[in-house]
Amino acid sequence: MIYTRISGTGSYLPDKVLTNQDLEKLVDTSDQWIRERTGISTRHVAAEDQTTVDLAEYASQRALEAAGRDAQDIDLIIVATTTPDRVFPSTACLLQKRLDRHGCAAFDVQAVCTGFVYALSVADKFIRTGSARCALVVGAETLTRLLDWNDRSTCVLFGDGAGAVVVEASEEPGILSTHLHADGAYENLLSVKGGISQGYDSLRDGNGYVTMKGNEVFKVAVNTLGRIVDETLEANNLEQSDIDWLIPHQANIRIIQATAKKLRMSMDHVVVTVGEHGNTSAASVPLALDVAVRDGRIQRGETLLMEAFGGGFTWGSILLKY
Ligand code: ACO
Repeated sequence: MIYTRISGTGSYLPDKVLTNQDLEKLVDTSDQWIRERTGISTRHVAAEDQTTVDLAEYASQRALEAAGRDAQDIDLIIVATTTPDRVFPSTACLLQKRLDRHGCAAFDVQAVCTGFVYALSVADKFIRTGSARCALVVGAETLTRLLDWNDRSTCVLFGDGAGAVVVEASEEPGILSTHLHADGAYENLLSVKGGISQGYDSLRDGNGYVTMKGNEVFKVAVNTLGRIVDETLEANNLEQSDIDWLIPHQANIRIIQATAKKLRMSMDHVVVTVGEHGNTSAASVPLALDVAVRDGRIQRGETLLMEAFGGGFTWGSILLKY
């Protein structure tokens, strides 16, 4: 049996750090409100001349190095992003050029904050069916470029960053199951209203920025993530206690705590980066994974549960042996 196994992880955060105190100067908010409602203290913001592919390139090089692989070993590149550099070519193609890798399949996946979970699930299918043997899967975002810095209900939440994994075909267990869902009926609770197909004018008057009915999104997110934890455990005949690490999407500490409670898991076994990274959308799960791999918390052979929820709505999970 062929499994998809993570052979290396990497991540990148831009140098510039925006604190809650900095945001107090921009909008009517407070450090206390942001920390109590979201758990966020700081977030990173890309430099003016940095784009999503710059972040993706750094994270990818670190993941390749950790895997002991060269870009020429890669036969599939998938980038999950909501903030591509261009309408086309895809960010994956731009990344492929940066890595000087020519000819292999490369494409983007758009599932907003669930993007990395979707992208890794797709890579898993390629590897299990023998269509690829060594894939680079990246979540990269410059989400702060989609923010209205006058809207306190969204501008305090998000940050920029990138995370990447190299995954390879292996006889040793790796990804055990993936679970993807979406419900477009919720399109209006969390969205950017404008878009190219509606004409350039559709992006004016604030319609090019993230809008969110935060408390409604919150309720659906908590319920949905609870359900997907059950679905993942049942599909693998596992108990809550079989999970060593929860690597959740980093949107809000209260959503993360609710999922940990559902798993009867101590917060000591949950990787939490939301305090320092904010919500980096598709980058948040691979960023959190890389942080906990590099600081030695996550060890080979442990069972990891990744989950995410985002605009669409989209949601998903991946259970794997690291
Ligand atoms: N500072 C101070 N007050 C604020 C701020 C702020 N930054 N933002 C909102 N408020 C106010 C509101 O105006 C409201 O005031 P009112 O009572 O006078 O009307 C009050 O705070 C409460 O607002 P709520 O929206 O009800 O606050 P809530 O406790 O729900 O927290 C939050 C808001 C943090 C956004 C939360 O709802 C949340 O995390 N939602 C889920 C986000 C999420 O998971 N998104 C999915 C992934 S993102 C993606 O896919 C792109």
